[in-house]
Amino acid sequence: MKISVEAAAQQLKEGHVVAVPTETVYGLAASITCPEAIKSIFTLKGRPSSNPLIIHVADIQAIQSYICEQPEGFQALTRAFWPGPMTIVLPIHPDRVPAIVRADLPTAAFRIPSHRITQQLLKLTFPLVMPSANRSGSPSATTAAHVESDFGSNFPVLEGSCSVGVESTILIYDKAWQIIRQGALPPAAFEPILGYVPKIKGVENQEKPLCPGQLFRHYAPKAKLTLTTDFQGIAGQVIVGYTDRIYPPSNHLIPLGNSSSPEEIAENLYKILRLLDERGIQEAYVDVLLPPSGLFATILERLFKAAQK
Ligand code: TXA
Ligand code: MG
Repeated sequence: MKISVEAAAQQLKEGHVVAVPTETVYGLAASITCPEAIKSIFTLKGRPSSNPLIIHVADIQAIQSYICEQPEGFQALTRAFWPGPMTIVLPIHPDRVPAIVRADLPTAAFRIPSHRITQQLLKLTFPLVMPSANRSGSPSATTAAHVESDFGSNFPVLEGSCSVGVESTILIYDKAWQIIRQGALPPAAFEPILGYVPKIKGVENQEKPLCPGQLFRHYAPKAKLTLTTDFQGIAGQVIVGYTDRIYPPSNHLIPLGNSSSPEEIAENLYKILRLLDERGIQEAYVDVLLPPSGLFATILERLFKAAQK
Protein backbone atom coordinates (compact mmCIF):
# COMPACT_ATOMS: atom_id res chain seq x y z
CA MET A 1 0.00 0.00 0.00
CA LYS A 2 1.66 3.25 -1.12
CA ILE A 3 1.86 5.97 1.51
CA SER A 4 3.21 9.54 1.62
CA VAL A 5 6.42 10.64 3.36
CA GLU A 6 4.35 12.40 6.05
CA ALA A 7 2.24 9.28 6.67
CA ALA A 8 5.39 7.17 6.81
CA ALA A 9 6.94 9.48 9.41
CA GLN A 10 3.75 9.30 11.48
CA GLN A 11 3.58 5.49 11.28
CA LEU A 12 7.25 5.18 12.28
CA LYS A 13 6.66 7.45 15.29
CA GLU A 14 3.71 5.28 16.30
CA GLY A 15 5.94 2.20 16.31
CA HIS A 16 5.10 0.66 12.93
CA VAL A 17 7.42 -0.76 10.28
CA VAL A 18 7.45 0.94 6.86
CA ALA A 19 9.30 0.07 3.63
CA VAL A 20 11.51 2.90 2.38
CA PRO A 21 13.44 3.26 -0.89
CA THR A 22 17.13 4.18 -0.71
CA GLU A 23 19.57 4.70 -3.58
CA THR A 24 20.89 1.13 -3.05
CA VAL A 25 17.93 -1.14 -2.24
CA TYR A 26 14.61 -0.85 -0.35
CA GLY A 27 14.88 -0.89 3.44
CA LEU A 28 12.44 -2.13 6.08
CA ALA A 29 12.46 0.78 8.51
CA ALA A 30 11.73 1.13 12.23
CA SER A 31 12.51 4.05 14.50
CA ILE A 32 15.55 3.45 16.74
CA THR A 33 13.30 4.58 19.61
CA CYS A 34 10.75 1.76 19.10
CA PRO A 35 12.10 -1.60 20.35
CA GLU A 36 8.87 -3.48 19.53
CA ALA A 37 8.97 -2.29 15.92
CA ILE A 38 12.64 -3.28 15.68
CA LYS A 39 11.78 -6.73 17.04
CA SER A 40 9.06 -7.13 14.43
CA ILE A 41 11.57 -6.39 11.62
CA PHE A 42 13.40 -9.61 12.58
CA THR A 43 10.12 -11.55 12.63
CA LEU A 44 8.87 -10.09 9.33
CA LYS A 45 12.12 -10.90 7.55
CA GLY A 46 12.69 -14.24 9.23
CA ARG A 47 16.08 -12.80 10.19
CA PRO A 48 18.25 -14.37 12.91
CA SER A 49 18.72 -12.02 15.88
CA SER A 50 22.50 -12.51 15.52
CA ASN A 51 22.46 -10.44 12.29
CA PRO A 52 22.67 -6.73 13.26
CA LEU A 53 20.96 -3.79 11.51
CA ILE A 54 22.29 -0.58 9.93
CA ILE A 55 21.32 2.73 11.59
CA HIS A 56 20.39 5.32 8.95
CA VAL A 57 20.75 8.99 9.85
CA ALA A 58 20.08 12.33 8.12
CA ASP A 59 23.47 13.89 8.87
CA ILE A 60 26.76 13.30 10.65
CA GLN A 61 25.64 15.13 13.83
CA ALA A 62 23.01 12.45 14.34
CA ILE A 63 25.64 9.75 14.97
CA GLN A 64 27.90 11.70 17.33
CA SER A 65 26.05 10.78 20.50
CA TYR A 66 26.15 7.04 19.70
CA ILE A 67 29.82 6.58 18.85
CA CYS A 68 32.79 6.52 21.21
CA GLU A 69 35.64 6.56 18.71
CA GLN A 70 36.44 8.09 15.32
CA PRO A 71 39.19 6.01 13.68
CA GLU A 72 41.75 7.85 11.54
CA GLY A 73 40.37 8.63 8.10
CA PHE A 74 36.77 8.58 9.35
CA GLN A 75 36.16 12.29 8.68
CA ALA A 76 37.69 12.09 5.22
CA LEU A 77 35.60 9.03 4.32
CA THR A 78 32.37 10.64 5.44
CA ARG A 79 33.17 13.89 3.59
CA ALA A 80 33.85 11.94 0.41
CA PHE A 81 31.05 9.34 0.45
CA TRP A 82 28.16 10.55 2.64
CA PRO A 83 25.39 10.91 1.75
CA GLY A 84 25.80 7.74 -0.31
CA PRO A 85 26.18 3.96 -0.50
CA MET A 86 28.83 3.55 2.24
CA THR A 87 28.18 2.00 5.67
CA ILE A 88 30.69 2.37 8.51
CA VAL A 89 30.90 0.12 11.57
CA LEU A 90 32.06 2.02 14.66
CA PRO A 91 32.53 1.35 18.39
CA ILE A 92 29.51 2.71 20.30
CA HIS A 93 28.39 3.56 23.83
CA PRO A 94 26.47 0.34 24.61
CA ASP A 95 23.86 2.13 26.73
CA ARG A 96 22.92 4.41 23.81
CA VAL A 97 22.31 1.86 21.02
CA PRO A 98 19.69 -0.81 21.78
CA ALA A 99 21.35 -4.26 21.94
CA ILE A 100 18.79 -5.72 19.52
CA VAL A 101 19.97 -3.32 16.77
CA ARG A 102 23.62 -4.38 17.02
CA ALA A 103 23.09 -8.05 17.96
CA ASP A 104 24.86 -7.37 21.27
CA LEU A 105 28.09 -6.34 19.54
CA PRO A 106 30.14 -3.43 20.95
CA THR A 107 29.84 -1.74 17.53
CA ALA A 108 27.04 -0.49 15.27
CA ALA A 109 26.76 0.18 11.54
CA PHE A 110 25.84 3.68 10.28
CA ARG A 111 24.87 5.12 6.89
CA ILE A 112 23.62 8.43 5.50
CA PRO A 113 21.60 7.55 2.39
CA SER A 114 21.49 10.00 -0.51
CA HIS A 115 18.02 9.15 -1.86
CA ARG A 116 15.85 12.30 -1.84
CA ILE A 117 12.89 10.50 -0.24
CA THR A 118 14.99 8.79 2.45
CA GLN A 119 16.55 12.17 3.28
CA GLN A 120 13.12 13.82 3.47
CA LEU A 121 11.87 11.07 5.78
CA LEU A 122 14.94 11.10 8.05
CA LYS A 123 14.46 14.84 8.62
CA LEU A 124 11.02 14.05 10.08
CA THR A 125 12.02 11.07 12.26
CA PHE A 126 14.58 9.72 14.70
CA PRO A 127 17.35 7.60 13.12
CA LEU A 128 15.89 4.58 11.33
CA VAL A 129 17.21 1.05 11.53
CA MET A 130 16.74 -0.65 8.17
CA PRO A 131 17.79 -3.98 6.80
CA SER A 132 17.08 -4.66 3.15
CA ALA A 133 13.33 -5.12 2.57
CA ASN A 134 13.27 -8.76 1.55
CA ARG A 135 12.55 -12.05 3.26
CA SER A 136 15.85 -13.37 4.68
CA GLY A 137 17.83 -15.17 1.97
CA SER A 138 15.80 -13.82 -0.98
CA PRO A 139 17.06 -11.24 -3.47
CA SER A 140 16.84 -7.69 -2.08
CA ALA A 141 13.90 -5.52 -3.16
CA THR A 142 14.46 -2.57 -5.50
CA THR A 143 10.84 -1.66 -6.29
CA ALA A 144 7.63 -1.15 -4.29
CA ALA A 145 6.20 -4.19 -6.14
CA HIS A 146 9.07 -6.38 -4.83
CA VAL A 147 8.28 -5.30 -1.26
CA GLU A 148 4.57 -6.04 -1.74
CA SER A 149 5.40 -9.41 -3.20
CA ASP A 150 7.38 -10.34 -0.04
CA PHE A 151 5.20 -8.68 2.63
CA GLY A 152 1.73 -8.38 1.07
CA SER A 153 -0.16 -5.63 -0.74
CA ASN A 154 -1.33 -4.01 2.52
CA PHE A 155 2.22 -3.42 3.74
CA PRO A 156 2.98 0.34 3.95
CA VAL A 157 5.50 1.30 1.25
CA LEU A 158 6.98 4.64 0.25
CA GLU A 159 7.34 4.66 -3.52
CA GLY A 160 10.71 5.42 -5.13
CA SER A 161 13.37 3.90 -7.35
CA CYS A 162 16.68 2.36 -6.26
CA SER A 163 19.07 3.54 -8.96
CA VAL A 164 22.22 1.80 -7.65
CA GLY A 165 20.53 -1.59 -7.23
CA VAL A 166 23.08 -3.30 -4.93
CA GLU A 167 23.70 -2.71 -1.23
CA SER A 168 26.14 -0.28 0.35
CA THR A 169 29.80 -1.16 0.87
CA ILE A 170 30.49 -1.83 4.58
CA LEU A 171 33.77 -0.69 6.15
CA ILE A 172 35.29 -1.39 9.55
CA TYR A 173 38.53 -0.12 11.08
CA ASP A 174 41.03 -2.59 12.55
CA LYS A 175 44.50 -1.02 12.26
CA ALA A 176 43.42 -0.12 8.70
CA TRP A 177 40.06 0.22 6.97
CA GLN A 178 38.70 -3.08 5.68
CA ILE A 179 35.69 -3.97 3.58
CA ILE A 180 33.43 -6.50 5.30
CA ARG A 181 30.74 -6.45 2.63
CA GLN A 182 31.42 -5.63 -1.00
CA GLY A 183 28.87 -3.21 -2.37
CA ALA A 184 28.12 -0.23 -4.56
CA LEU A 185 31.53 1.41 -3.94
CA PRO A 186 34.44 -0.75 -5.13
CA PRO A 187 37.66 -0.95 -3.03
CA ALA A 188 39.57 1.28 -5.47
CA ALA A 189 37.11 4.15 -4.86
CA PHE A 190 38.59 4.58 -1.37
CA GLU A 191 42.23 4.85 -2.45
CA PRO A 192 42.25 8.59 -3.23
CA ILE A 193 40.78 9.27 0.23
CA LEU A 194 42.71 6.77 2.37
CA GLY A 195 45.95 6.49 0.40
CA TYR A 196 45.47 2.71 0.13
CA VAL A 197 42.94 0.24 -1.21
CA PRO A 198 41.08 -1.35 1.72
CA LYS A 199 41.32 -5.14 1.81
CA ILE A 200 38.22 -7.25 1.49
CA LYS A 201 37.84 -9.31 4.63
CA GLY A 202 36.25 -12.68 3.82
CA VAL A 203 34.07 -14.43 6.39
CA GLU A 204 35.81 -17.75 5.76
CA ASN A 205 38.35 -18.78 8.40
CA GLN A 206 37.13 -16.11 10.82
CA GLU A 207 36.54 -17.39 14.29
CA LYS A 208 34.06 -14.65 15.01
CA PRO A 209 32.74 -13.10 11.80
CA LEU A 210 32.93 -9.31 11.63
CA CYS A 211 29.85 -9.09 9.44
CA PRO A 212 27.55 -11.74 10.89
CA GLY A 213 24.95 -11.50 8.11
CA GLN A 214 27.46 -12.69 5.54
CA LEU A 215 27.24 -16.21 6.95
CA PHE A 216 23.65 -16.69 5.94
CA ARG A 217 22.36 -17.71 2.53
CA HIS A 218 21.76 -14.58 0.49
CA TYR A 219 20.18 -13.03 -2.57
CA ALA A 220 18.91 -16.36 -3.95
CA PRO A 221 15.86 -16.85 -6.16
CA LYS A 222 13.99 -20.18 -6.09
CA ALA A 223 15.27 -20.88 -9.59
CA LYS A 224 18.41 -23.04 -9.85
CA LEU A 225 21.20 -20.87 -11.23
CA THR A 226 24.18 -22.31 -13.10
CA LEU A 227 27.02 -19.86 -13.53
CA THR A 228 29.00 -20.36 -16.72
CA THR A 229 31.20 -18.70 -19.31
CA ASP A 230 30.68 -21.29 -22.03
CA PHE A 231 27.34 -21.50 -23.80
CA GLN A 232 28.35 -24.00 -26.50
CA GLY A 233 26.01 -26.96 -26.33
CA ILE A 234 23.41 -25.15 -24.23
CA ALA A 235 20.05 -25.29 -26.03
CA GLY A 236 16.45 -24.53 -25.12
CA GLN A 237 17.43 -22.91 -21.81
CA VAL A 238 16.92 -19.58 -20.09
CA ILE A 239 20.12 -17.53 -20.23
CA VAL A 240 20.68 -14.52 -17.98
CA GLY A 241 23.16 -12.58 -20.08
CA TYR A 242 23.94 -9.33 -21.85
CA THR A 243 22.34 -7.36 -24.68
CA ASP A 244 25.64 -6.99 -26.56
CA ARG A 245 26.46 -10.74 -26.64
CA ILE A 246 25.29 -13.49 -28.94
CA TYR A 247 24.13 -16.78 -27.42
CA PRO A 248 23.08 -20.00 -29.19
CA PRO A 249 19.72 -19.06 -30.74
CA SER A 250 17.44 -21.77 -29.32
CA ASN A 251 17.81 -20.29 -25.82
CA HIS A 252 15.70 -17.56 -24.21
CA LEU A 253 17.76 -14.52 -23.18
CA ILE A 254 16.82 -12.48 -20.10
CA PRO A 255 19.17 -9.48 -20.29
CA LEU A 256 20.92 -7.91 -17.31
CA GLY A 257 22.07 -5.02 -19.50
CA ASN A 258 25.12 -4.22 -21.59
CA SER A 259 28.21 -6.16 -20.47
CA SER A 260 30.29 -2.98 -20.52
CA SER A 261 28.00 -1.16 -18.05
CA PRO A 262 28.35 -2.47 -14.48
CA GLU A 263 26.01 0.32 -13.32
CA GLU A 264 23.22 -0.92 -15.60
CA ILE A 265 23.80 -4.55 -14.57
CA ALA A 266 23.79 -3.65 -10.85
CA GLU A 267 20.55 -1.69 -11.22
CA ASN A 268 18.87 -4.67 -12.91
CA LEU A 269 20.43 -7.49 -10.88
CA TYR A 270 17.77 -8.13 -8.21
CA LYS A 271 14.96 -7.26 -10.64
CA ILE A 272 16.13 -10.07 -12.93
CA LEU A 273 16.69 -12.59 -10.10
CA ARG A 274 13.15 -11.89 -8.93
CA LEU A 275 11.75 -12.00 -12.48
CA LEU A 276 12.91 -15.62 -12.78
CA ASP A 277 10.63 -16.59 -9.89
CA GLU A 278 7.78 -14.33 -11.06
CA ARG A 279 7.83 -16.21 -14.37
CA GLY A 280 8.05 -19.59 -12.65
CA ILE A 281 11.42 -20.34 -14.29
CA GLN A 282 13.07 -23.26 -12.51
CA GLU A 283 16.53 -23.18 -14.02
CA ALA A 284 18.70 -20.54 -15.69
CA TYR A 285 22.28 -20.27 -16.95
CA VAL A 286 24.02 -17.05 -15.94
CA ASP A 287 26.81 -15.52 -18.02
CA VAL A 288 29.58 -14.63 -15.55
CA LEU A 289 32.23 -13.70 -18.10
CA LEU A 290 32.83 -10.28 -16.55
CA PRO A 291 36.05 -8.62 -15.36
CA PRO A 292 36.40 -9.44 -11.62
CA SER A 293 37.11 -5.87 -10.57
CA GLY A 294 35.30 -2.68 -9.54
CA LEU A 295 31.51 -2.87 -9.37
CA PHE A 296 31.67 -6.05 -11.51
CA ALA A 297 33.29 -7.81 -8.52
CA THR A 298 30.26 -6.95 -6.34
CA ILE A 299 27.89 -8.20 -9.06
CA LEU A 300 29.84 -11.46 -9.34
CA GLU A 301 29.86 -11.91 -5.57
CA ARG A 302 26.05 -11.52 -5.48
CA LEU A 303 25.64 -13.97 -8.37
CA PHE A 304 27.88 -16.57 -6.67
CA LYS A 305 25.83 -16.28 -3.47
CA ALA A 306 22.56 -16.42 -5.45
CA ALA A 307 23.70 -19.67 -7.10
CA GLN A 308 24.61 -21.38 -3.80
CA LYS A 309 22.15 -23.95 -2.56
O1 TXA B 1 22.47 -0.57 1.13
C1 TXA B 1 22.28 -1.04 2.25
O2 TXA B 1 23.20 -1.20 3.08
C2 TXA B 1 20.84 -1.46 2.61
C3 TXA B 1 19.97 -0.18 2.64
C4 TXA B 1 18.55 -0.45 3.08
O3 TXA B 1 20.58 0.79 3.44
N1 TXA B 1 20.79 -2.15 3.86
C5 TXA B 1 21.25 -3.43 4.01
O4 TXA B 1 21.00 -3.96 5.25
O5 TXA B 1 21.80 -4.04 3.15
P1 TXA B 1 21.14 -5.50 5.62
O6 TXA B 1 20.57 -5.62 6.97
O7 TXA B 1 20.57 -6.34 4.55
O8 TXA B 1 22.69 -5.73 5.69
C6 TXA B 1 23.40 -5.11 6.73
C7 TXA B 1 24.67 -5.82 7.01
C8 TXA B 1 24.45 -7.17 7.65
O9 TXA B 1 25.05 -8.20 6.88
C9 TXA B 1 25.13 -7.05 9.00
O10 TXA B 1 25.83 -8.20 9.33
C10 TXA B 1 26.06 -5.86 8.83
O11 TXA B 1 25.40 -5.02 7.93
N2 TXA B 1 26.23 -5.17 10.11
C11 TXA B 1 25.35 -4.40 10.77
N3 TXA B 1 25.84 -4.00 11.95
C12 TXA B 1 27.09 -4.52 12.06
C13 TXA B 1 28.11 -4.49 13.05
N4 TXA B 1 27.96 -3.84 14.19
N5 TXA B 1 29.25 -5.15 12.79
C14 TXA B 1 29.42 -5.83 11.64
N6 TXA B 1 28.49 -5.90 10.66
C15 TXA B 1 27.33 -5.27 10.87
MG1 MG C 1 20.12 -7.84 3.13
